[in-house]
Amino acid sequence: MKFLSVVGTRPNFMKLAPIARALAGRPDVRHVIVHTGQHYDLTMSDAFFEDLELSEPDYHLAVGSGSHAAQTAAVLARLEPILESEQPDVVLVYGDVNSTVAAALAAAKMNIRVAHIEAGLRSRDRTMPEELNRLVTDQLSDLLYAPSLDAANNLRGEGIPANRIRFVGNVMIDSLTQMLPRAHAEDVTARYGLTNAEYVVVTLHRPANVDDATNLSEVVRALEKISRDRAVLFPVHPRTRRRLGELEIKPNGGGDLRLLDPLGYTEMLSLVSKSSLVITDSGGLQEETTYLGIPCLTVRPNTERPVTCSRGTNRLVPAEQDVIVDSARRTLARKRAARPAIELWDGHAAERIARDLCEYASTFSGSGTHQATV
Ligand code: UD1
Repeated sequence: MKFLSVVGTRPNFMKLAPIARALAGRPDVRHVIVHTGQHYDLTMSDAFFEDLELSEPDYHLAVGSGSHAAQTAAVLARLEPILESEQPDVVLVYGDVNSTVAAALAAAKMNIRVAHIEAGLRSRDRTMPEELNRLVTDQLSDLLYAPSLDAANNLRGEGIPANRIRFVGNVMIDSLTQMLPRAHAEDVTARYGLTNAEYVVVTLHRPANVDDATNLSEVVRALEKISRDRAVLFPVHPRTRRRLGELEIKPNGGGDLRLLDPLGYTEMLSLVSKSSLVITDSGGLQEETTYLGIPCLTVRPNTERPVTCSRGTNRLVPAEQDVIVDSARRTLARKRAARPAIELWDGHAAERIARDLCEYASTFSGSGTHQATV
């Protein structure tokens, strides 16, 4: 059986790692890895392959930065000849980035089966590029691996046949549980000169927050205020770094707001797991903080991960200085709630996916491309 995984961005690598590990344990499986190069900086890509102990990708498409159309088109054009020569039984795509939708489309057009890992998440906000990527990828996929019950229900609600939907749990949590002992062993607080774990971690990269001058400035001003009470550690995404420069937004000082380079996975996990609050607009961090029981404020009007709000530690806040500061202060003053348990966020999602994929592919492997799905 041959499976081909396509990844391109930082959050894809954490989802690939446990799948690669689970498939590596199967002697009858060849697993080919294609890196689209959507993320290409050392800190955004290579450091993650090393940290997550991922083997070098078999192919690198080097698509780099560009508009959505240019990036998606480059993946489509460069992936097609690889699919042609590799002839995988199933193409595996991850999450909701431009590389995901492009790879799903390239494979589906060649009648190669597609499996979507992290299927069914919906923000119902079509101004988000990721929501469009999710909708299209799920329509094109033959196997839809849902991380949560709400995601599986969304797919059913959209009329996707039940025999294509598998509720398997969350592969991000697989990576987290695998790396947590190493993250705990790293003394990050000392590295940042912090004597205790009373600090806030921030990440921000969504276009709606960082490409909008008012929103970005509101959030930075809020972080300055919060940093007068607690150290605020802010590893800055390249997109955000560029926008801060272009818009000439500089922290005014007075507090302890630290703009850092993007961090590796283990170091980030270590920082987050010992923090008192996370402020973010990332999808993955909403899940990771929920699993760890760390309070999280998500600077977005909606989330495709509602379970992190209904059961977890997450709360949505607008990009408004006063609301963010007030919510942060109130959250920090509150006693921390017990760590919630979410169904199948247990560190074994990738094993379930690998088992299911192999069972599925064993029914047709070697018989060529398919005419009808499942
Ligand atoms: C992408 C994903 C988003 C995901 C995020 C995680 C899409 C539509 N968006 O957003 O869902 O949460 O990755 O980081 O696919 N850049 C660098 N170096 C890099 C990568 C990016 O400098 O290694 C800069 C480039 O100038 C680029 C910009 O960041 O133009 C944005 O990168 P891009 O991959 O287009 O989208 P992200 O904002 O990272």
